[in-house]
Amino acid sequence: MKTNDSMKDENVFYPPKSITRKANVKDYETVYKRSIEDREGFWADEAKKLKWHKKWTQVLDDSNKPFYKWFTGGKINIISNAIDRHLKTHRRNKVAIIWEGEPGDVRVMSYHALNREVSKFANVLKSMGVKKGEIVTIYMPQIPELPIAMLACAKIGAMHSVVYGGFSVEALAGRISDANSRVLVTADGGWRRGKVTDLKSIANDAMDRSPTIEVCITVKRTGQEVHMENDRDFWYSDLMSLPIASPHCKTEIMDAEDPLFILFTSGTTGKPKGLVHSHGGYSVYTSTTHRNVFDVKDEDRWWCAADPGWITGHSYMVYGPLINGSTVIMYEGAPNHPYPNRWWSMVEKYGITILYTSPTAIRGLMRFGEQWPKRHDISSLRLLGSVGEPINPEAWRWYHDVIGRGECPIMDTWWQTETGGIMIAPMPVTPLKPGSATKPQFGIEVAVVDENGKDVKPGEEGKLVIKAPWPGMARTVFGDPDRYVETYWKEYEKQGWYKAGDSARIDEDGYIWVIGRIDDVIKVSGYRLGTAEVESALVSHPAVSEAAAIALPHEVKGNAIHTYVILKAGMAGSKKLEEELRKHVSEEMGPIARPESVSFLESLPKTRSGKIMRRVLKARALGVDEGDLSTLED
Ligand code: WT7
Repeated sequence: MKTNDSMKDENVFYPPKSITRKANVKDYETVYKRSIEDREGFWADEAKKLKWHKKWTQVLDDSNKPFYKWFTGGKINIISNAIDRHLKTHRRNKVAIIWEGEPGDVRVMSYHALNREVSKFANVLKSMGVKKGEIVTIYMPQIPELPIAMLACAKIGAMHSVVYGGFSVEALAGRISDANSRVLVTADGGWRRGKVTDLKSIANDAMDRSPTIEVCITVKRTGQEVHMENDRDFWYSDLMSLPIASPHCKTEIMDAEDPLFILFTSGTTGKPKGLVHSHGGYSVYTSTTHRNVFDVKDEDRWWCAADPGWITGHSYMVYGPLINGSTVIMYEGAPNHPYPNRWWSMVEKYGITILYTSPTAIRGLMRFGEQWPKRHDISSLRLLGSVGEPINPEAWRWYHDVIGRGECPIMDTWWQTETGGIMIAPMPVTPLKPGSATKPQFGIEVAVVDENGKDVKPGEEGKLVIKAPWPGMARTVFGDPDRYVETYWKEYEKQGWYKAGDSARIDEDGYIWVIGRIDDVIKVSGYRLGTAEVESALVSHPAVSEAAAIALPHEVKGNAIHTYVILKAGMAGSKKLEEELRKHVSEEMGPIARPESVSFLESLPKTRSGKIMRRVLKARALGVDEGDLSTLED
């Protein structure tokens, strides 16, 4: 590490000896160097830590760029690693999942018990005719049956498509249709801030709009009356008590490159795209990064407070930690229910050692003041993590000082649904600068470049690119390989680099600072939404003719959505209509997409080719210079 002035800055935080002495990775620089010089050798060594049914013949097959293949010829199933192999060790009796419901109910499951539940549900899915390669859609609250359903799919070689339980009818219906799912797994509802969410009725409406579903399996969680249809609807508990739901089920042996799941995420234009991840590479990548970044030990209690409906939940609540044999904490509800000490009381109660959450959650809890964490002994915490958006220095300090007693290093992790796992992040030995995700992970080569692919100068802003493939990368966009190439690989085709869609800068010490999206993707509370989706939800309202959505800074959410609409002829804007439109977007897409404001305009700033110039709207809203307007239509 260079020790120039900026590294001596009082804003650099050095990890305590108690952590560096025992760290899984002690010498980042040496291992990193090796991982770049001998990339395939490095990944082969990591892959050897897993259980393979047959060893690969080739680590990286790049004969059909950018459709890279990893560990080809290898046979594996992620479940052989996340569950099966633990059953033959001391981990059989180790707690796999501690789950707490919002009302306070608790379930604890050992790896042995998790295996039984997963096997039983795998047999249920089989009895419904679910086949290898088929996509099962899962739309659930944060209850143990959610990871159980995911793992059961993987076990029998089916793919899952988890749709975040906070999404609503339109979003769910679209994802079901795109995946062509025949089976949907859902719940009657979930608990959120003392209230019951209406998952099953949303699922029913979505099934009306997307007729591919033949079988819907519903977990009874909240117990309200729900509509069930003969021949289509089944209660989870009924099926799980049938003889067919035997606790013994063979794990399907898969090719390393067989798809494990698809996960929809918002893009710049049009409908959300389903990114495809595979059994082999994803297993290697999520477990390696989880072990290195969070320094996990057998005795840890790991809490990734994300929803499994997002990639963070897939990679670091379910797959990565279970492969590493960790004890995983899961919580159903709101962080401030019934009081803002809920998380801290859980940390104390379960002796949680590592907490991984988002800047939004931290800012939200920070607002309530430090008296809430102060009520609890949270000294079990050893490491903290952040993900989803840049963390502002104020939130970083609060997290570090109040939650981490000034002793817990903060792992600010940059990555994406597309990358499958963490790409840029410190390890516990890395000196930290608040707001910087610091350094690339092993095997990852990052650059910040201009449009010609030239490195920008230290400290200057440019586009973030990844220069070489990695095992956790998404393999394609489901059903649309051209879009995969177009979105990520076209711009730097000549160089063969992956374009992340973010802007960033690299400082004199080689520290990477991610600034934010450069496309029309909005991060609201760390959740990813496309302006195109919000706009299409608005236009689906009978009063709206055209719409534009932009992001403006928000104190807690990071960004909030602000929208501009042109009404149909004869319609007039009003406070009432504004409320109605906000509600409409929320009902169509889900509460996270609810716009902060709706403004009524006579026209929208457009280019001569008809593209909405969102940056002009944004500049006007912020009262800053509108920049180059030469392409503006009038
Ligand atoms: C986008 C990806 C990765 C899991 C959750 C988000 C932003 C993510 C950071 C960070 C700055 C971050 C980027 C990225 N982002 N982590 N530590 N610092 N920005 O996954 O929903 O696919 O969103 O989130 O803009 O492109 P995602």
